[in-house]
Amino acid sequence: MTSLKRFFSLFVIFSFSVFLLHCKSKKHTDAEYLNFASKVMQDTMPKMMQKVQEQVKAKGYAEAVSFCSTFAPEFGKNKNVEWTEKAREELGAKTFRLARISMKNRNPKNAANAKQAAIFSQWLKEGGQPTVYRDNEKIVTMHPIQIAMPLCLGCHGDSATLDKKAGQVIQKLYPEDKAVGYKMGELRGAFVTEINTTSF
Ligand code: HEC
Repeated sequence: MTSLKRFFSLFVIFSFSVFLLHCKSKKHTDAEYLNFASKVMQDTMPKMMQKVQEQVKAKGYAEAVSFCSTFAPEFGKNKNVEWTEKAREELGAKTFRLARISMKNRNPKNAANAKQAAIFSQWLKEGGQPTVYRDNEKIVTMHPIQIAMPLCLGCHGDSATLDKKAGQVIQKLYPEDKAVGYKMGELRGAFVTEINTTSF
């Protein structure tokens, strides 16, 4: 009987250790979260910019604005579904979300929150660099997005570079637009992922 008891308690200790080890194995390093986020970024941003570029070439900036205003959110939604699956597999994520945000946002849904605004201020002083922070259970990554090509300026530039017609369409579609006045190389915003993990 006693040996049975001992066997039972050993079994409980063993199972608990396995359980703890399992939980531990689900934790990932900041570098792994950033690495995952940059894979998502590479899979989304160039494709999106290529689409916009095609539209600008074919129809001009003004027409491309309306295209962008429906395409960007839709494309984002689809990519979210695709990458949520991978975040579950690779990071044991409960939920996953990708977004583009800015301190001078065009779409009101893309506004930076207070924490993200603080990171932007730091980036403006020290240069943008991939960043990870915790927000309750969420692990949030931020990668800088720059005005990297003259193409961006047609819809985000200053009085010298912003396409006039595009500016009018933007005002109609986004009356609270703040995303103009940029010059080449300036920090435009951030590519963000929010990962909610099952580990504790
Ligand atoms: C044809 C016009 C057009 C061009 C060219 C363009 N954008 Fe935009 N951009 C938009 C519109 C419209 C939105 C708002 C999309 C939405 O409603 O989600 C936007 C949104 C964004 C956002 C999301 C944050 C926000 O302000 O809502 C970022 C970041 C961004 N653009 C960066 C760029 C960069 C970098 C380039 C150049 C590589 C670029 N854009 C080129 C029209 C354009």
